[in-house]
Amino acid sequence: MPVSAISEIPQRRTSDRVARVAAVGDIHCGEEDRGAFRDQLTRVNDDADVLVLCGDLTRRGLPAEFRTVVGELADVKTPIAVVLGNHDHESGQASEGEAILRDRGIHVLSGDPFHLSEQVGLVGTKGFMGGFGRAALTSFGEAETKAFVNATLEEVQRLEMGLRRLATPVRIAVLHYAPIAGTVAGEPEVIYPFLGCDRLAEPLDRYDATVVFHGHAHTGAFEGRTAGGVPVYNVSLPVLRKIGLPTLYYVHEVELQSAGRALGKALERR
Ligand SMILES: [Fe+2]
Ligand SMILES: [Fe+2]
Repeated sequence: MPVSAISEIPQRRTSDRVARVAAVGDIHCGEEDRGAFRDQLTRVNDDADVLVLCGDLTRRGLPAEFRTVVGELADVKTPIAVVLGNHDHESGQASEGEAILRDRGIHVLSGDPFHLSEQVGLVGTKGFMGGFGRAALTSFGEAETKAFVNATLEEVQRLEMGLRRLATPVRIAVLHYAPIAGTVAGEPEVIYPFLGCDRLAEPLDRYDATVVFHGHAHTGAFEGRTAGGVPVYNVSLPVLRKIGLPTLYYVHEVELQSAGRALGKALERR
């Protein structure tokens, strides 16, 4: 979709024809940000059927920051699904953070599918780094290198298992790290390996994800596609600001009928 068309997306009420997904990452909420996002986030009640937060909800992953995030979401009635980002792990209290989010009724995605409806399902995980294409790090040499690559492969497997268990025609994938190089384009090339890894794209293609949202690449590109053609959106808040989006989140519409046909084709191929 051309960038100029984004602000023209019609803000329709839920219909049986279209599912609307609002997505944003990297709000990096600190305790001092209390009230900074609340009004903008509350607008999602009219704009979408589900709100997806693609990690780096907080600055340092402190429980007080997670509580601030929950406060910013206090008026959101739309179902919310999140993955954590690297910033949310910084203080080593991610489990406590997840519990704070879950207490609010937020779906913390970590491999398990979340069935929003009979038509729409989500699966997500943080993902990890490692690089892209022929430059991707391989599991060779020191134990430390193997442990690093293994951390990526565990995330790939988590994503794959979640997608396999999703039974809905609309199959939304949520990551923090980028699954393709296309949406990190614009970042300094020397840091590409720290922004994501295209091993994450393999299950997206194999299990016919409908659309993928990620964050983390603050100065990357807004949209791209996997090798198999799955649309990928980098919804990092600085990127959404850069493309001039009027809302705090990007709203993506998925046609439910075409998604049903896509699932039929996917099932035939298995
Ligand atoms: Fe970030
Ligand atoms: Fe990040």
